[in-house]
Amino acid sequence: MIDDALIAQAAAVLKAGGLLGLPTETVYGLAADAGSSQAIARIYAAKGRPNDHPVIVHLAHVEQIRDWAIDIPGEAWTLARAFWPGPMTLILKRAAHVLDAVTGGQDTVGLRIPSHPVAHAVLAAFGGGVAAPSANKFGRVSPTTAQHVRDEFGDAVDLVLDGGASEVGIESTIIDCSSPALRVLRPGAITEAMIADALGIGGKPVAGQQAAAPRVSGSLDAHYAPRTRLLLVAPEALAATLAAQQARRVAVLSRERPAGFGDEWRQAAADACVYARELYAHLRELDGVGADVMLIEAPPQRSEWDGVNDRLRRAAFGSGVD
Ligand code: TXA
Ligand code: MG
Repeated sequence: MIDDALIAQAAAVLKAGGLLGLPTETVYGLAADAGSSQAIARIYAAKGRPNDHPVIVHLAHVEQIRDWAIDIPGEAWTLARAFWPGPMTLILKRAAHVLDAVTGGQDTVGLRIPSHPVAHAVLAAFGGGVAAPSANKFGRVSPTTAQHVRDEFGDAVDLVLDGGASEVGIESTIIDCSSPALRVLRPGAITEAMIADALGIGGKPVAGQQAAAPRVSGSLDAHYAPRTRLLLVAPEALAATLAAQQARRVAVLSRERPAGFGDEWRQAAADACVYARELYAHLRELDGVGADVMLIEAPPQRSEWDGVNDRLRRAAFGSGVD
């Protein structure tokens, strides 16, 4: 399944300071050499992202985190052993050499060891750290297929590797381990319950997201947004909200197909993991049907839905209520 020649080509693109569309198990990344300010500047330019926003550094092996972080607490090693390789990013105190372009000038660095075999092969072949924000324009829906990356960036990316549809589908859980009280800065597939479980009885309590968190671009309210106006609607209000749209063209993501809907409807999965896997493709597709408004039936508020509900809330922000 892994094409060695293509992996070598990808590593060469990174070494040359180029941009690579990199499949990971969460979403596709827009990857560049984390040791080169010029390469990282290309990421910011392509994404249209403010350049004081930090990027995550991706590594092949857990031991490499010592090259990028200092004062790594015991809890971080416990989490690393439990969830890496996988959909988790740890925020740690930066090592002195880590570029300001990576950290956004903060004294911390975000590190992740992805589990996708193609990502792992590229990282192992390259050898160094790879900066990779999600491969979407700033504020837009993250990509979960190679085609999404090509659609978004075209020739601005030197090479896009196709690793199939991302299995997790939403971005990694970000856990701040840089101060004594661990905090989840961005919910994801690794839930707070899983984190608490891994840390055991002796672990420090994990606090949820807080207003005073370090800068996380995913924490801006209007994020992950489709272009179509989006309304999150409680299940019991869906029928009435639909009826109230009158002449407007409507796209719907819901458990059951509303009467009369065809291409403008996507079925929402009952399982939180499946829902997350499909979410961004659904948002992109429904964004493309030319609707005036997109109605999304709100999923349950249970903790396994935290990651999905976080992304939906941000996608709907600014759309107002009808
Ligand atoms: O799943 C993922 O994390 C994907 C894949 C490609 O690995 N990457 C991703 O990157 O979502 P990005 O840049 O779209 O989101 C990373 C988030 C940003 O909100 C950024 O602000 C935050 O991580 N971040 C990175 N370094 C940080 C730091 N030192 N302190 C606080 N937040 C940090
Ligand atoms: Mg992103």
